Amino acid sequence: MKVSALSPALLGLVASVHAASSIEYSTVTGYFLQDETATDASTFDYTAVNFGLINRTYPVDQELKRHGKDFTQWERFYHQVQKLNQDSHKDVEYKVLFLGRHGEGWHNAAETYYGTPAWNCYWAELDGNSTATWHDAALTDNGINQALIAHAFWQKEIDEQHIHTPDNYFVSPLTRTLQTANYTFSGLSLPDGSATFKPLIKELFREGISIHTCDHRRSKSYIHELFPSWPIEKGFAETDQLWNGVTAETSGAQDVRSSTVLGEVFFSSASSKRDAFVSVTSHSGEISSILRVVGHRTFGLSTGAVIPVLVKAEKVGEASATTAVSWTVSAHCTAPPVTSVSACVCPSSAAPVTTPLVTDV
Ligand SMILES: *[C@@H]1O[C@H](CO)[C@@H](O)[C@H](O)[C@H]1NC(C)=O
Ligand SMILES: *[C@@H]1O[C@H](CO)[C@@H](O)[C@H](O)[C@H]1NC(C)=O
Ligand SMILES: *[C@@H]1O[C@H](CO)[C@@H](O)[C@H](O)[C@H]1NC(C)=O
Repeated sequence: MKVSALSPALLGLVASVHAASSIEYSTVTGYFLQDETATDASTFDYTAVNFGLINRTYPVDQELKRHGKDFTQWERFYHQVQKLNQDSHKDVEYKVLFLGRHGEGWHNAAETYYGTPAWNCYWAELDGNSTATWHDAALTDNGINQALIAHAFWQKEIDEQHIHTPDNYFVSPLTRTLQTANYTFSGLSLPDGSATFKPLIKELFREGISIHTCDHRRSKSYIHELFPSWPIEKGFAETDQLWNGVTAETSGAQDVRSSTVLGEVFFSSASSKRDAFVSVTSHSGEISSILRVVGHRTFGLSTGAVIPVLVKAEKVGEASATTAVSWTVSAHCTAPPVTSVSACVCPSSAAPVTTPLVTDV
């Protein structure tokens, strides 16, 4: 049989223009195990080790001594972060980002089922198969359980560590992240004075935009109907303006948008320096991008996992030039591939094409 192997198409398309950030981000290390090269991300369980917060003393511990009681590690860390903010210039802000990956979705199950090469070059471009749907995938039962594990862990941290719960919550507009944030944070018994859980739905916290249908978000009306009491950011379009099933965001383009969205979290009118703890429920690719932007080492999260990162942001001048960022077209098969062992091979009847497989955009 004549086969045509897929080669990556390198045709660059300028599909997006973003404002360049005037904020410099860095990860402040020394507080979390995840920052240390000795910590293996692939076996790390955030629920087994207090979110990874290292047992240590802080300069600010002295100030707490006069209260004449023992404070937990998380209480002392919270005071340490408040102190860093108080003692810093107005153009510097510290925040602890709790970056949570959604629980397992039907697209994750399908990638495992079909194998990654075949998933990428064919199956991911469909809305689903005869028994599962992965267009804007929902959580599997396993994925719901992973979010409930996060829920139970937050409650334990609240009860035992008196952890300061997030001052602000943000969530990607895809169904799997909306569900994950809901199962994680709804119904927690929060300490007095905590911010209530009403996550702001933000477009730019979505997953890297590939030609896969799992990256195609649903309408604003659908999202509003699913979680009617959750705010949606201003300017959020009714239908997805970014996904087109033909061009894919490059990691460079994704990092530009990650720094754009972080620029809406730091130094924002909605959250002061005192609002230092921030929850973001997002995706593996987007969290990897955020970690790159804040200078954190690579740290892959399994589905449902959470990583806290202490980030220092510093204004370094005016918001300036805009950057044109290229997206690329992605070739795919138009019929199931003949093999998926190490690479995707399309049948001869289906040479790679760069047009959408699903026309219902
Ligand atoms: C910190 O200490 C406690 C008890 O002393 C221990 O259970 C926990 O595992 C330690 N955490 C880390 C991250 O080392
Ligand atoms: C459809 O995909 C799911 C994985 O998402 C898999 O469990 C199921 O067996 C597939 N169904 C068929 C008919 O191949
Ligand atoms: C939100 O979470 C609550 C609590 O776990 C659950 O009862 C409810 O069904 C969830 N809503 C959606 C739309 O998933």
